[in-house]
Amino acid sequence: MSPFLLTRTLPEDATESALREDVLHGLTRSPKTLPPKWFYDARGSALFEEITTLREYYPTRAEREILVARSARIAEITGARTLIELGSGSSEKTRHLIDALPALHTYVPVDVSETALTGAANALVAQRPALDVHALIADFTRGLALPGTPGPRLVAFLGGTIGNLHPAERAAFLSSVRDLLEPGDALLLGTDLVKDESVLVSAYDDASGVTAAFNKNVLSVINRELAGDFDPAAFEHVAVWDREHEWMEMRLRSTTAQTVKIHALDLAVDFAAGEELRTEISAKFREGGVRDELAACGLELTHWWTDERGRFALSLSTVV
Ligand code: AVJ
Repeated sequence: MSPFLLTRTLPEDATESALREDVLHGLTRSPKTLPPKWFYDARGSALFEEITTLREYYPTRAEREILVARSARIAEITGARTLIELGSGSSEKTRHLIDALPALHTYVPVDVSETALTGAANALVAQRPALDVHALIADFTRGLALPGTPGPRLVAFLGGTIGNLHPAERAAFLSSVRDLLEPGDALLLGTDLVKDESVLVSAYDDASGVTAAFNKNVLSVINRELAGDFDPAAFEHVAVWDREHEWMEMRLRSTTAQTVKIHALDLAVDFAAGEELRTEISAKFREGGVRDELAACGLELTHWWTDERGRFALSLSTVV
């Protein structure tokens, strides 16, 4: 069995200083915000995995349906010898793609979470001993440096995670992906689609409260990492559809007037009763919009596949 290679492009303390900056910046402005990437400590990652199994949360199942139906076609079109997966997490859905790529020589999962990477990479190396696995600990929103690997290369960004970025961040991200690609390489992008408001709101406010726990978990992350004294019970989970921007927004609403201390930052944060802290946007897309955003970054959408019910899309694009 060939061992996998693990490369760290993030300094050991990068996560902590980035968290400090984000919390200081986000909690001292109005409206208050926190970036969604801080949901994903071990508990948050487990809660997200649980979300993907909920009746109300359709995106994971819809995307898996497309991957099962289209992986052979994706393999045929791309002939990929290297698969680079951004935000790979547990890599569960990607298995369909990996298993369908006969020419695949190297798999490069990229994630900020070392535990997610090593778990997924170990499982894969056991099942595909001939595959080179080069896991990369990196924050792909802060620029990417990839190992030299055989082409053609397929970059996959699945799960609809691109929707967690604001439009300007999406453009910067897509441009940096474009810069990684050479002629003959491709990008496989997962995007959740605009649909009925009630379906969307249920998906982000499930009846069993798992998404509420996931949302509030960011407060526990701050308590642990930055010596905060947030009381998660003093906040309620809010999920709203913003029809102008066509994105879902998750917020935490302070149920009372309260002051929260974050000792590691020497910071006291006042919340008014009913004040909302924005924790995530999850943009929903239309084909034309995805095509335009890709084109603006030098990428040409060549294929568009949805699940049977038209809830989610995978698109394939190439460099212009
Ligand atoms: C990480 C993009 C897959 O935005 O739907 C799930 C995260 N947030 N429930 C999404 C999430 C609330 C999720 N993705």
